Amino acid sequence: MNKDEFGKSFKWGVSTAAFQIEGSCSAEGKGPSIWDTFSSRKGKILHGQHARVACDFYNRYEQDLDLVKALHIGNFRFSFAWSRILPEGKGTVNQKGLDFYNRLIDSSLERGINPWPTLYHWDLPQALEDLGGWTNRDIVGWFSDYTDLCARSFGDRIDHWMVMNEPMVFTGAGYFLGVHAPGKTGLKNFFPAVHHAVLSMAAGGRILKSANSQAEVGTTFSCSHIEPYSQKSWNVSAAKRADVLFNRLMIEPVLGMGYPDEELSILKGIRKYMQAGDEDKMAFDFDFIGLQTYTREIVRYSLLTPYLHAKLVKAENRKVPLTTMKWEVYPEGIYSIIKKYSAYKQIKKIYITENGAAFPDELRDGGVDDQERLSFIQTSLQQLLKAKDEGCPVDGYFVWTLTDNFEWAEGYHPRFGLIHVDFNTQKRTIKSSGKWYGEFLK
Ligand code: BGC
Repeated sequence: MNKDEFGKSFKWGVSTAAFQIEGSCSAEGKGPSIWDTFSSRKGKILHGQHARVACDFYNRYEQDLDLVKALHIGNFRFSFAWSRILPEGKGTVNQKGLDFYNRLIDSSLERGINPWPTLYHWDLPQALEDLGGWTNRDIVGWFSDYTDLCARSFGDRIDHWMVMNEPMVFTGAGYFLGVHAPGKTGLKNFFPAVHHAVLSMAAGGRILKSANSQAEVGTTFSCSHIEPYSQKSWNVSAAKRADVLFNRLMIEPVLGMGYPDEELSILKGIRKYMQAGDEDKMAFDFDFIGLQTYTREIVRYSLLTPYLHAKLVKAENRKVPLTTMKWEVYPEGIYSIIKKYSAYKQIKKIYITENGAAFPDELRDGGVDDQERLSFIQTSLQQLLKAKDEGCPVDGYFVWTLTDNFEWAEGYHPRFGLIHVDFNTQKRTIKSSGKWYGEFLK
């Protein structure tokens, strides 16, 4: 496999997210986000860990960008922490927050690295959560104002924008299961959160595009290749329902298809939160769709799972190789995912904006020989190339992630980085996977 096989326009990158790396949670005027609050609550994060320092990226971004450059990675995806820029989520602007992201963007450009910001990677300002967060329809306006401010502040140097990161995960884990911030549960929170996230995504897209029609504007979705546990009809239909929830719910309204609630009727509950004209407002013609995929899911019928009547068969019980996240090691899934989304005629271009794997890396003799991650990335790329050669409009690949970081509710235990971080000393060590990626991109 050779980089040239992917074509000249193919975007090679690496992805990160503000809360997972920056630290400095209350530095220079930053307001608290829901993740600051959530991770300070007892029992929410594995081993009681928090992200007050994380990778100290707020202070070390230049050294980390030097590493991005040393690995020949031309595109750096990061996110803005909304409450660094607007401590209360709206109203007064924190100039120091804008300054930080201006420095980050300028430092990237100085090194010949294209900055790819995401406006929202899960860290909602706590002040807005206090007003209901994603369950309050006013958030569409708050998010639009924040988007507009970012477009005006940074837009002169940004060619590629992403509005949101994985809305299904932050609404599902944060507003239905309660295992992510803000820790809310139930359909009465989930449904309005879904609808307002969808409206905000499309509104954000419109604002960014009208601020600069030359910039490429996209948004990102989590997705997994899903297979039924067996070909029994009840398992096949359970897998279809899971596919609606995990892979289709968020993207289809954006593509102008409405919510896929005919195939999972519980979702009709979202209609209660819809107002006249919303169908149109939910849709936006994004220049690209970012797909983020890590594993596959095997689904079987379950009488006891409310609403969905389907459950994921845990990879642990399937005697398959596992990552530290207990996800099946299944890099082949990226192929079917690209094929699946390429079938939507509305999608013009796909970038894989996250893909990677966590393994129990060990620092030995000054290095980390992470052969499993290396082979995961290589296989993913072969599968991506296969889909591309078959005509799928996939034109970019971003590894998740640059450095080991704060993995949300799992704390620092899962290591996803191309670069190892010793969280006691903040020392960075390029892993074998990082060295390979760097050589490949050279
Ligand atoms: C998220 C990242 C996360 C990664 C691995 C994605 O769902 O966007 O923030 O760290 O998966 O779990």
